[in-house]
Amino acid sequence: MRGKMFAVVLGFLGAACAKNADEARPDAPPRATASADDATSVSSGERPEPAGDAARGKALVGSFECRRCHEGTGLEPEPLARNCRGCHLHVLADGFSSKPASATWKSHVAHLGPVPSLVGAGRRLRYEWLVRFLVEPHDLRPALTQSMPRLALSREQARDVATYLASLAGPSPTDARALVGADAARGRKLMDEMECGACHRMSGVEPLRAGTPLGPEAPRFYERHAEELRPAVMLAPDLRHVRERMTSTQLVEWLRDPPGIKGDTLMPRPGLTPEATRDVAAYLLTAPLAPAEPRRIPEALPNLTRRVAYEEVAREVLDVTCRHCHGSPDVAVGDGGPGNSGGFGFKRRAINFTSYEHAQGGYVDDAGERHSLFEPLADGTPRIVAALWARHREVAGSPDPSVRGMPLGLPPLAPEKIQLVATWIAQGRPR
Ligand code: HEC
Ligand code: HEC
Ligand code: HEC
Ligand code: HEC
Repeated sequence: MRGKMFAVVLGFLGAACAKNADEARPDAPPRATASADDATSVSSGERPEPAGDAARGKALVGSFECRRCHEGTGLEPEPLARNCRGCHLHVLADGFSSKPASATWKSHVAHLGPVPSLVGAGRRLRYEWLVRFLVEPHDLRPALTQSMPRLALSREQARDVATYLASLAGPSPTDARALVGADAARGRKLMDEMECGACHRMSGVEPLRAGTPLGPEAPRFYERHAEELRPAVMLAPDLRHVRERMTSTQLVEWLRDPPGIKGDTLMPRPGLTPEATRDVAAYLLTAPLAPAEPRRIPEALPNLTRRVAYEEVAREVLDVTCRHCHGSPDVAVGDGGPGNSGGFGFKRRAINFTSYEHAQGGYVDDAGERHSLFEPLADGTPRIVAALWARHREVAGSPDPSVRGMPLGLPPLAPEKIQLVATWIAQGRPR
């Protein structure tokens, strides 16, 4: 079924690319109309969002600590000691080079440095999209390891935050005639000529042409070279989301002058004529898209029959990523990380994975009571194992309301790693 859809899309593109821009053909894609603004916002069947309160939104941006990861929040930057993004970039830039260990550290943070800034977010992104994304974040950037974490923001709070972001950037003008008469097929041709594919992917259409191996080779290339990829590639969104994220006016405005909308952007000014700009915008908003590749949730593996001791679980799982958010306050100036002392709007959960004894300490619930992390949930899965599977479900678009996916905002663990944790618990958690 999907194969057929792809064939249809590829056929369309083949026709679109071969044809001369000025030649009108009966199989040409529909020309965008004056109502493209409405068409793009209604296409997702989204209900209109009531406005929020900018002052409350500003307070929430502070209390949810968005600035530990993002620049452009309108608040003072966090000091380096608390700034996740800032400190990782500092490590990458050899800021700690006096430490002999910095060579290994660097490779560990290579995929945690770049995070898109929020400069101009309220102007270049649709309000409805912002609200939905804050409540149900999903992956936007194919070459970026990190995702926006699923925070504990209610929809109402998300409206306040989005309203605040919009107030920072000033309103986006609407221009009902933005795409009148634009030619999507010519837009696609221009994108191939300009090699937008050197930085961007657009999933669901024939791969964009690229001057680098980032075209059809992209997925494998990203896997092999994720660490050295230039920040511009890491921060370039998958262009399939543009039609949900931007109105036609916002898009035309962006394509005309990206640095004018977002001063710190790494996207160069395309320098297209106004007409060509509208053609490219028409392609981005109207090109037929094959359905998104569903993210598969892998099968759980049966418990191992060999013995699994704590040392192996720590080495393979807890010390790798978990410890950085579930650390020891005693050795880190009182802050055990967001998963221990609290942070990103989460309460203090007091989860500490720095030693066997600490891991037995469990977590603290909303009422302040301690519980074991190994306690089975209703379906018999220990809480910690459930959290690791919940991350797979979040990435697949079906978050679990009762357990938050771990590691927070990072790629899910391979089934073999989860199997180690599950086996260790089933064996009575040997040292
Ligand atoms: C732990 C780090 C972290 C925290 C905390 C965080 N974000 Fe993000 N956010 C990210 C990352 C990483 C992305 C990029 C995701 C992607 O491209 O898939 C992102 C993406 C976004 C985007 C989309 C921007 C764009 O141009 O695509 C918005 C908007 C956003 N975050 C807002 C917020 C707000 C508001 C807060 C606080 C309430 C917040 N974030 C807290 C890491 C974080
Ligand atoms: C003061 C500097 C600094 C700050 C602040 C900081 N980190 Fe790190 N982070 C590091 C270094 C250095 C490493 C590599 C450590 C290692 O190799 O053991 C690292 C590694 C990590 C890793 C493990 C990466 C991997 O290998 O998978 C995660 C996850 C992480 N940090 C998350 C965070 C988060 C989330 C925050 C903000 C709450 C944060 N860090 C704040 C310096 C910092
Ligand atoms: C050098 C790399 C690079 C090239 C080449 C490039 N872009 Fe971008 N583009 C980016 C980055 C990075 C962003 C993210 C903007 C930001 O947050 O700073 C972006 C953002 C965008 C956006 C906004 C998408 C969204 O979801 O927010 C559109 C649309 C876009 N680019 C289209 C194009 C087109 C069309 C071309 C070719 C004419 C192109 N880009 C060429 C790097 C690039
Ligand atoms: C980027 C920071 C971060 C990383 C990395 C991280 N955690 Fe967490 N973790 C948190 C935060 C914050 C909470 C509190 C969430 C809440 O209160 O809903 C949490 C909560 C948890 C919980 C309780 C979840 C629930 O809903 O009951 C478990 C279990 C857990 N983490 C395990 C892990 C494991 C195992 C890893 C490594 C694979 C890990 N975490 C990596 C930040 C992190």
